[in-house]
Amino acid sequence: MSTTRTLTGITTTGTPHLGNYAGAIKPAIAASRDAAAESYFFLADYHALVKCFEPQRLRESTLAIAASWLALGLDPERVVFYRQSDVPEIPELTWLLSCVCAKGLMNRSHAYKAAVQANVEAGEDPDQGISMGLFNYPVLMSADILLFNASHVPVGRDQAQHLEMARDMAQRFNHHYGEHFVLPEAVIDDDVATLPGLDGRKMSKSYDNTIPLWLDSKPLRKQIMRIVTNSQTPGEPKDPDSANVYSIYAAFASPSQRQAMRQAFADGIAWGEVKQQLFELLEAELAAPRERYCELISQPQAIEEILQHGAHKARAVASPFMQRLRAAVGISALQ
Ligand code: TRP
Repeated sequence: MSTTRTLTGITTTGTPHLGNYAGAIKPAIAASRDAAAESYFFLADYHALVKCFEPQRLRESTLAIAASWLALGLDPERVVFYRQSDVPEIPELTWLLSCVCAKGLMNRSHAYKAAVQANVEAGEDPDQGISMGLFNYPVLMSADILLFNASHVPVGRDQAQHLEMARDMAQRFNHHYGEHFVLPEAVIDDDVATLPGLDGRKMSKSYDNTIPLWLDSKPLRKQIMRIVTNSQTPGEPKDPDSANVYSIYAAFASPSQRQAMRQAFADGIAWGEVKQQLFELLEAELAAPRERYCELISQPQAIEEILQHGAHKARAVASPFMQRLRAAVGISALQ
């Protein structure tokens, strides 16, 4: 177990935007090409159920996210790419972990506490609208990770507490039943681009300020033209470091392109021209994957096959390990 085993899940709600691509998808795919690394990527559709009650949306999102990762170069031969719900060992392990997980630990979950707090502030019952799914979310996430003995888990800063919880559950289980689980480490890359959205706040669905990843050229250009700038006129020297259009440009540009753009800012480039150059830069990077994406989503059956192949590989690891865990807790054939 000394090789690096990286695992990460993508919740299947919504479709990816440029911020997801720059901050998560692109670095994850790049890392998966490292020969020394073993990578597990999965579509967290059980997690999606916590907040999505629209079956059609969940299905569409699963297809869109799977197609996105494949179109952007994820190699399903090289990594284990699967759907959470195709691995029944995950909910099975969730139960074993639930039985060693302190309820008090879950009470301290930031996401749960924030939901309670919002209820209290609104004068509601503290548990109003809070499902057991939301409460147990970190146990399911721990099962995702521990089932494969992942050593490294790249996540956003908001998920760091969940990794602490996974380590806690792994330790408690190991304490009761012997050394079965590796303690996973969160990999939080603060250098990775957090892209600003159209309005300058972090690009996020909840702010409705995103640039969707798979817009066609024309709507993509239109959306880029909507990025908010200040009212400086053409010819006035401008400050790249306070311009969100520059931050987005910089996230995709090479060092020499960045340098040239900084010079252009100093020389008073017009905002419209910066946006045009950003559009061209994104087109160059995304036009070919976009074509592959469109092809892929028109062949859901082909994607399904890829996911089934991934589930097969995942279960080849999960199923014997789960057998061992069942035996460890005292669940096995009588003889
Ligand atoms: N909770 C993660 C998120 O919202 C998604 C996720 C589910 C995940 N299971 C995981 C991430 C296991 C890493 C490992 O981003």
